[in-house]
Amino acid sequence: MIRAVNALSLPLLRWLDPEDAHRLAIQGVRLLPPLRPRPDNPKLAVRAFGLNFPNPIGMAAGFDKNAEVPDALLRLGFGFVEIGTVTPKPQAGNPRPRLFRLARDQAVINRMGFNNDGAEAVLRRLASRANQAGIVGVNVGANRDSPDRVADYVHLIETFAPVASYFTVNVSSPNTPGLRNLQQAHILDDLLAKVIDARERVREKAGDSPVLLKIAPDLSLAELDEVVHVARSRRVDGMIVANTTVARPSTLREPALAKEQGGLSGRPLFRLSTRMVAETYVRVEGAFPLIGAGGIDSGGAALTKIRAGASLVQLYSSLIYKGLGLVDDIKADLASTLLRTGREQLSEIVGADAATITAEDWPV
Ligand code: FNR
Repeated sequence: MIRAVNALSLPLLRWLDPEDAHRLAIQGVRLLPPLRPRPDNPKLAVRAFGLNFPNPIGMAAGFDKNAEVPDALLRLGFGFVEIGTVTPKPQAGNPRPRLFRLARDQAVINRMGFNNDGAEAVLRRLASRANQAGIVGVNVGANRDSPDRVADYVHLIETFAPVASYFTVNVSSPNTPGLRNLQQAHILDDLLAKVIDARERVREKAGDSPVLLKIAPDLSLAELDEVVHVARSRRVDGMIVANTTVARPSTLREPALAKEQGGLSGRPLFRLSTRMVAETYVRVEGAFPLIGAGGIDSGGAALTKIRAGASLVQLYSSLIYKGLGLVDDIKADLASTLLRTGREQLSEIVGADAATITAEDWPV
């Protein structure tokens, strides 16, 4: 079924303006019949942040910004879905065009700028599916014109706690001016203290909501030292490594499009983001699990990310080029690798290559 939809839709979608194609993809996913997904191989189950993931493949933030199709995505085989980034007030984002396909690089550049329907509308959608199973995380961010960005995050935690399986504190989008400054140690410390405090305040009524921190792949190692130190001392439940990069590797084969401002994702992000997963893993010392994101487009790439230190992974850009059937392919690959190597669970290989990867030359 998914394969038939892929075969028909992918060539068509590629003809369209990327943002129109995205809109159409959301509509298409919404229209898929509500088939029950095939149960996952139990070997792929992951326990992290106090949650039981049926498989480790997540839909990354940015695809379903407004929580329009989380259950359809879960039915397509994702082990979890992250909606957002959501901001307190609705926001139009940057002027179009703001999304670019670098086809020859299997990459994407976006400068969407947190376009979203705002907390009220998104909360209404999530509340209407609140009694459904499946892990749906809420990625939160600040409005561009907010006079108090920290207050925006706190407000979103309080608002969404009853319906969020987990939260992602997004301080790493390159498309809201100044947002990534929230990664500076003293500012991050204040932000996380207040976010964790808000989570504790609503815990009794709303239940437990793990808080994850999503970072940029462009941090220096000295900055990463500080970020991990703050994340550990504030006892976040996990980190997502990483968001899009503002770097432009010299290897890109679409030089004209590469000049567009925004965050680069997809295949050219794979090596840098995997290195950052490994660097984060060795600094975290098992204090909490990591989600790895950036350029995952095959079972092999997912496995590399896991061996670098990711307990779970997320993807987005590769779906544009390979379609939603990729999720099943990756799961099948991971399961057969486990079988072939005589492992019972993915957790046995998490971080197995972290030390080796951190000793390699820095990826360019
Ligand atoms: C994103 N990403 C993203 N991340 C986030 O935390 N909040 C967001 O709103 C968005 N929006 C967004 C839009 C588009 C069009 C893309 C391509 C990406 C980043 C995404 O979640 C992920 O971290 C990176 O894209 C790296 O993974 P892939 O795409 O290389 O698999």
